[in-house]
Amino acid sequence: MSPTPWSPSSWRERPLAQNPTWPDPVHLAQVEQELGTKPPLVFAGEARRLRAQLAEAADGRAFVLQAGDCAESFHEGAADFIRDKLKVILQMAVALTYASGVPVVKVGRIAGQFAKPRSTPLEERDGVSLEAFRGHIVNSEEFTPEARRPNPDRLLAAYHQSVATLNLLRAFTTGGFAALNRVHAWNQQFVAQSPEGKRYEVLADDIDRALNFMRACGVDLDDDHSLSSVEFYTSHEALILPYEQALTRQDSLTGDWYDCSAHLLWIGDRTRDLDGAHVEFARGITNPLGLKVGPSTTPEQLVRLVHALNPDNIPGRLTLISRMGRDRVLEHLPTLVETLLHEGSRVVWSCDPMHGNTFKAVGGQKTRSFDDVLTEVAQFFSVHQALGTWPGGLHVELTGDNVTECVGGGERLEESDLDLNYTSICDPRLNGSQSLDMAFHVSELLQSAASARTRSL
Ligand code: TRP
Ligand code: MN
Repeated sequence: MSPTPWSPSSWRERPLAQNPTWPDPVHLAQVEQELGTKPPLVFAGEARRLRAQLAEAADGRAFVLQAGDCAESFHEGAADFIRDKLKVILQMAVALTYASGVPVVKVGRIAGQFAKPRSTPLEERDGVSLEAFRGHIVNSEEFTPEARRPNPDRLLAAYHQSVATLNLLRAFTTGGFAALNRVHAWNQQFVAQSPEGKRYEVLADDIDRALNFMRACGVDLDDDHSLSSVEFYTSHEALILPYEQALTRQDSLTGDWYDCSAHLLWIGDRTRDLDGAHVEFARGITNPLGLKVGPSTTPEQLVRLVHALNPDNIPGRLTLISRMGRDRVLEHLPTLVETLLHEGSRVVWSCDPMHGNTFKAVGGQKTRSFDDVLTEVAQFFSVHQALGTWPGGLHVELTGDNVTECVGGGERLEESDLDLNYTSICDPRLNGSQSLDMAFHVSELLQSAASARTRSL
């Protein structure tokens, strides 16, 4: 059966899950029209570069670090938030690269990650029922009818915040801030005092020494682009399709369609219906794609999704992001990985250890335990080790701030500490030192995966 023709709007013929009913469709249409005239955020050539780097991860020669907020907030668009998030991601990346010797592809959940799928369309409190909070691109978190009313102007606000965020990221990652001779400067004060922060200082000293050694040998470090900058890519869940369609453009060079709202777009576990609007939209854009794979995914479903999204089996086109939950990885993941191995599908397997491990603390806040998160990552690595496949990436929710949203980790945060600084508008994130702690653990796992791979070559 040949697929039906695709266009940027062909998703409109399919059932659309997890989008609000916009109360004023005329207003929405005006906004879509306006967004359609705005400059692209990212360029086709950049998305192709990312695809090539993800292909390295698909073939076992690179590791993908995808990290950032659960949902970006319109209240956290200031430069400091962006800078501190980037610092933590750079610290994690450098720790992973240094320990494993494997190149790390850096992808932020940033500059567009504003929309949230919800378990119920309505939220009820004390007998009052309102539209659920769907992220700042749709409505606002306060529990009032006005705040919860989906407002299309928010699509424009999300676009503008993404523009500003990406502009700053481009400056930081190419303008000297991310240079390897600044490794010490990424260690924020509150992180530096933690055990992980101290461990990081040791690593940063090692890197300084290595750089000095190369300089003494006559290498001109200031002239070397690869030491002084990083390639940093953006990603978000392609959820609110009117927004994604409006930013989808045809590349003048190749004639291919790209969703220019981010380099990589992913499909969530709740919107991965083969016949639904989200899969229809994603299959026609040429960007690298992510697909969240939860415990309810059957091998048959996965095979059909992989065929629909990557019919030509292009490595780097598709990253499968496993989000099983600590107790379900060993039960569900091996069959899925084995099935695709058998099919010869060249995908990146990445691990999201956050979303399957959320629970309600005694105080009612949503939280995650650092130990559960770590256990899921370790299980993910062991599944790949047993099958001889490559654990290609890590997908985490974090912030550079000193928040208290996840329990455990080096500082042993407890449920009673959660109220100290809980600022997430959606899921609980790892704070700076928990993120670094995670990176050190994953470095060790990656190091042994890399040496096992070298032995088998
Ligand atoms: N450009 C290289 C890379 O991205 C080295 C590098 C420069 C780097 N700054 C970095 C690595 C910061 C990690 C973090 O791998
Ligand atoms: Mn989340």
